[in-house]
Amino acid sequence: MLDQYIQDKIAELKIEDTVYKLPIIIGSEGERAIDIRALRSQSGHITFDSGFMNTGSCSSDITFLDGEKGILSYRGYPVEDLAKHCTFAEVAYLLVHGSLPTIEELKHFSELLGRFALIHEDMIHFFDGFPAGAPPMAILSSMVNSLMTFYPEMTENPLENIDENAARLISKVRTIAAFSFKKSIGHPLVYPRHDLSYCANFLNMMFDSPVKPYEINNIVVKALNKVLILHADHEQNCSTSTVRLVGSARVNLYASISAGISALWGPLHGGANQAVVEMLEEIYNGGGDYKKFIARAKDSDDPFRLVGFGHRVYKTYDPRSQVIKGICDEMLDALKVNDPLLDIAKEIEEVALKDGYFIDRHLYPNVDFYSGIIYRAIGIPTNMFTVMFALGRLPGWISHWKEMWVDPNWRIGRPRQVYVGPKRRPFVPIHERKGDEE
Ligand code: CMC
Repeated sequence: MLDQYIQDKIAELKIEDTVYKLPIIIGSEGERAIDIRALRSQSGHITFDSGFMNTGSCSSDITFLDGEKGILSYRGYPVEDLAKHCTFAEVAYLLVHGSLPTIEELKHFSELLGRFALIHEDMIHFFDGFPAGAPPMAILSSMVNSLMTFYPEMTENPLENIDENAARLISKVRTIAAFSFKKSIGHPLVYPRHDLSYCANFLNMMFDSPVKPYEINNIVVKALNKVLILHADHEQNCSTSTVRLVGSARVNLYASISAGISALWGPLHGGANQAVVEMLEEIYNGGGDYKKFIARAKDSDDPFRLVGFGHRVYKTYDPRSQVIKGICDEMLDALKVNDPLLDIAKEIEEVALKDGYFIDRHLYPNVDFYSGIIYRAIGIPTNMFTVMFALGRLPGWISHWKEMWVDPNWRIGRPRQVYVGPKRRPFVPIHERKGDEE
């Protein structure tokens, strides 16, 4: 796939007196890269790029993102259009298979999602092993890794039945997420139902109870579909790169996704949606003085950051945050929910966008700034927000793992480093050591 994008043009790199000619790659949307794969063998130099700010680790035909223009598309379709017209199951199919499903294909995929929704009954005992208050992301990551022990057929030839394997994982993760919530509040588990769509089934497993049947609300189902679609992929972010890196060692899909879930847990990544609501609650409970928090975010001596603002790639509005803000307004309006946190969030956005600190650094609201307010309105507890992100991101992770698996340029992921430790020194036997001055 990559070869057709390698140009006749070359870049020249002069190191001391020698000039090295490096091929140029131009992607289908005009993204330019210098191919340095042969640089070390030819020149003895590696490139240094901590945080991978300028490093392309793979070629991919899944997601295109232009952070300067605020563009995001999956398999060529703008994410705004997909959120408007599709269900999450349709977009999951698109990501995993590369094209939007026909009616028949979607029916088949939805049947698979229904068929695989149960988890092995023995796995339910696992939930009892976690202490009360265990973070749901820790539970999710452990449970997903252990799926391999119950469904080992995945390891044989993971791509042979990828249709079924992807559906199995997407379906079971939803069940695990809802069961972990029920366990955490000590309520009986609600099993998945065959007659419900992906999102309606999840909401029913979360909120139905023997003493108070859950009434499925189409407004909520629609909003949840959209939010999950907006999270479904985001090219080489931290968790997706983790899935690829772990998978590059040829480990099974479950273990790779479990590692991705752990990466997503971090407050600088998926954990930000929880952190945003916690920050807004702190502001609200402290009397609503959000300007104090903005001042702290700008203070270089204070490590505090305005959570939900800024992005490694977007230097303009995150296109997802615009759509999410609209869903948030629509849903709260339709459900007649008045959430003071939404008012605070809007005020912060308005003030920050006019503030030189945020303007100079291109800091705009990101996808997490409003998603938590939607989850709150649905009734999802704060500690489950990042689990919701994981549910959404799962089809993206699977499609990247699949793409990595068949990539002809695939190599085990193994970055280099610049060593800055002590030079080679003689070993000192323990009775001759003098401590730090050595
Ligand atoms: N509040 C205040 N200052 C900020 C913020 C923020 N949220 N984000 C970046 N800055 C400042 C930062 O201090 C630095 O200033 P200076 O140049 O004076 O040192 C400058 O902006 C550049 O920041 P950076 O840390 O070099 O940028 P990065 O690309 O490494 O980090 C980020 C990106 C998302 C980790 C960061 O913007 C951040 O910590 N945001 C808050 C956490 C958050 O909302 N994360 C969710 C990201 S979107 C969902 C996802 O991808 O998972």
